[in-house]
Amino acid sequence: MELIGTTLLVCFLVVVFVAPGSSRRKQFPPGPKGFPLIGNIFDLSLKELWLSLARWASKYGDIVYIHVFGTGLVFLNDAEAAVDLMDRKGSIYSDRPHLVMAGELCGGYNIMSFTGYNNQFRRQRRLMQRALTPLVIKNYHPLLEMETIPFLKRLLSKPTSYVDHIRRYAGTLTLNVIYGHQVTSDDDRCLKIAEACADVLANDIAGGGFLWLVDVLPFLRHLPMWVPGSGFKHKAIRWKAQLTEFATVPYEEFKEKMENGTAKLCYCSTLVEAAGKSMTEQDEFDIKYSANTMYSASLDTTITIVTSFMLCMVQNPDVRIKAQAEIDRVVGKDRLPDFNDRPSLPYLECVLSEVFRWTAPVPYALPHRLMQDDMYRNYFIPRGSFVFANIWTMTRNEEMYPNADAFVPGRFEADVDEEVKKKRDPRNFVFGFGRRRCPGLYLAEQSTWLLMASMLAALDIQKAVDDKGKVIDPEVRYENSVFRMPAQFKMDIRPREHARKLMNV
Ligand code: HEM
Ligand SMILES: *[C@@H]1O[C@H](CO)[C@@H](O)[C@H](O)[C@H]1NC(C)=O
Repeated sequence: MELIGTTLLVCFLVVVFVAPGSSRRKQFPPGPKGFPLIGNIFDLSLKELWLSLARWASKYGDIVYIHVFGTGLVFLNDAEAAVDLMDRKGSIYSDRPHLVMAGELCGGYNIMSFTGYNNQFRRQRRLMQRALTPLVIKNYHPLLEMETIPFLKRLLSKPTSYVDHIRRYAGTLTLNVIYGHQVTSDDDRCLKIAEACADVLANDIAGGGFLWLVDVLPFLRHLPMWVPGSGFKHKAIRWKAQLTEFATVPYEEFKEKMENGTAKLCYCSTLVEAAGKSMTEQDEFDIKYSANTMYSASLDTTITIVTSFMLCMVQNPDVRIKAQAEIDRVVGKDRLPDFNDRPSLPYLECVLSEVFRWTAPVPYALPHRLMQDDMYRNYFIPRGSFVFANIWTMTRNEEMYPNADAFVPGRFEADVDEEVKKKRDPRNFVFGFGRRRCPGLYLAEQSTWLLMASMLAALDIQKAVDDKGKVIDPEVRYENSVFRMPAQFKMDIRPREHARKLMNV
């Protein structure tokens, strides 16, 4: 999801320069007062932005409005407002900011998270929703389970590179579930293309915060290729070719397997079979590019949620011990947990819910661009505003989650009626809202459960100890402004006594 992250970054930067006219003298939602013209640019600090946003929420209420050079940024701080606007008024709240360089010139508009609210978007969303329902994901369970043991082995062989192992896990899992492509070596061609592509997206196209002059002065897109200063167009052509290669190679491989009868059940096969003989060129384009979108969308999110889980285990050994005891009792010590065990592991379920809540992996989701002027709770919200669901404040709602900053899975054990239970489920908001809500949520939810259960069954993850026997408290830092991803920290990862048996070694 690197590109998703960078989309958000660019919004903050692009708005500094883009100034569409907006109506004055209307009652805007409250927010910190900015200087005329340059607006609230000084209030925006990208590092741990969620903390500033939370301060505004407690000062100004459920809807906060700021503007930067005339473009509104709207933060919806409670779930009700987010549902009212992004869900109920989904027909006008589902566009994305327009990006000339990344979207138009580099071909990013083929990738769904960038696409505006148009027919292509609607078609591809429909495909994803069809092929990623909980029922269909059941079919992918064997694929998910295949990646667990290799991941545990890599983690144990070189614990300090845990981020690389998680990235590899997310990448191989996605290639498997999407294309039925099984990665067997580090030199795997698809994996290499995929990793290079994710890198281009995150570091080249989005390099320097994603800000390209052509995003600010869109007429530059017409610059002839031979003119000095048109370097960005040459780069765009190269990068677009790379993105296209990544969309094409694994898909073509999948198609050959379909033809020679060796394709495995996966996202693409589900959709190609559903389309049947009447599959059009457009159908195929949509399958190919919706598949392509998912690779980059799953990387950073998976790294965020898994490293956060590890941090929670390091900081809360009592939770780890209790969850391990449950697994040992229910599953035994001869095999890893699998999806059939899930209903019999209620405490683990609470741990997963609390990991989602406490982490808030994408703390203010991605911007939804408002397509028409709108009124809400007597406030005026101008067309073109970038609207953010402030997921962070929702996860820190003290009424629903007393002592919200603490990691306490037990809060989900408390006996409450069904309605409260439903309302406080963090899955309601950590995946965003409305027609842009994360389409990978069931896949992410289930693969996270499996990985968490397996790690708990096989590993003890706890505070590291230095040479002198002193316990090291992990240093918690957040450097990424879009994903609440803990930066590399010290911990001790070791196999439990029966781990070898679980991992068949
Ligand atoms: C813990 C894991 C994950 C979390 C917390 C998460 C969360 C989110 C959030 C908050 C958004 C923005 C929603 C909005 O704009 O309102 C999003 C978008 C998206 N996610 Fe996820 N995600 C996760 C994993 C995944 C995975 C594994 C996939 C793919 C298989 C995926 C695919 C996507 C796509 C394609 C979008 C863009 C949707 C659009 O623009 O319409 N996500 N995700
Ligand atoms: C089927 O096609 C795939 C992808 O090109 C190839 O790797 C595989 O060897 C082929 N299998 C058979 C039986 O032809």
